[in-house]
Amino acid sequence: MLSAASASLSPDHWFSTDEQFNFLYPGPIRLLAAKHWTPLHITQRVVRYLTPTDNARVLDIGSGVGKFCLAAAWSMPSAFFTGVEQRKGLVSHAYTAQAILKLKNVEFIHGNFTRLDFDQYDHFYFYNSFYENLVDTEKIDDNIAYSPELYDYYNRYLYKRLDERPAGTRLVTYHSLESEIPPSYHLVEAQVNDLLKFWIKS
Ligand SMILES: C[S@@+](CC[C@H](N)C(=O)[O-])C[C@H]1O[C@@H](n2cnc3c(N)ncnc32)[C@H](O)[C@@H]1O
Repeated sequence: MLSAASASLSPDHWFSTDEQFNFLYPGPIRLLAAKHWTPLHITQRVVRYLTPTDNARVLDIGSGVGKFCLAAAWSMPSAFFTGVEQRKGLVSHAYTAQAILKLKNVEFIHGNFTRLDFDQYDHFYFYNSFYENLVDTEKIDDNIAYSPELYDYYNRYLYKRLDERPAGTRLVTYHSLESEIPPSYHLVEAQVNDLLKFWIKS
């Protein structure tokens, strides 16, 4: 738990480095950061692209402890960010961090992304969330069922939802194997040794 002194620090303090930001979370969550949560400099590269208009609504598909959404919300107060996350404990950490940062333009939903209405969102961020279903990958925990079948199911489901979105829908992928991306999306730019990709639907 954070001390009262930590809780009173300004948001700028928390966003100064990844190390500082990760101190919003307990030790075991901090240990997962390097592998599982988007670094701040990556969010800085993508947030403007995902918010081409004021009031843009952005969904992070698999939001973990909310690091991407919180950093994006802090950088772009005119947009609104939603994170959906299947692990309840991670959502709870996201809400605790949000309260400390006093950010209003962000929310977190506990549940499977397959239960969301994609019409509620304009643009999407995806950090290879389904990869944990493949064997021999580093997993966040052993509390949920993993399988290659789930990996295929989630990829196909996301592919269909993305394909239904209107022309102009923007998508950013980080570390993606790209099987979830329909051919109706074309690549606008690739950065960070092709790990970070910017897409738009035609
Ligand atoms: C690599 S982490 C990324 C976290 C966050 N987007 C970030 O960048 O900081 C992927 C997250 O997706 C979640 N996830 C995986 N499959 C999911 C599903 N079907 N529905 C909701 N969340 C899911 C995992 O529990 C994990 O927390």
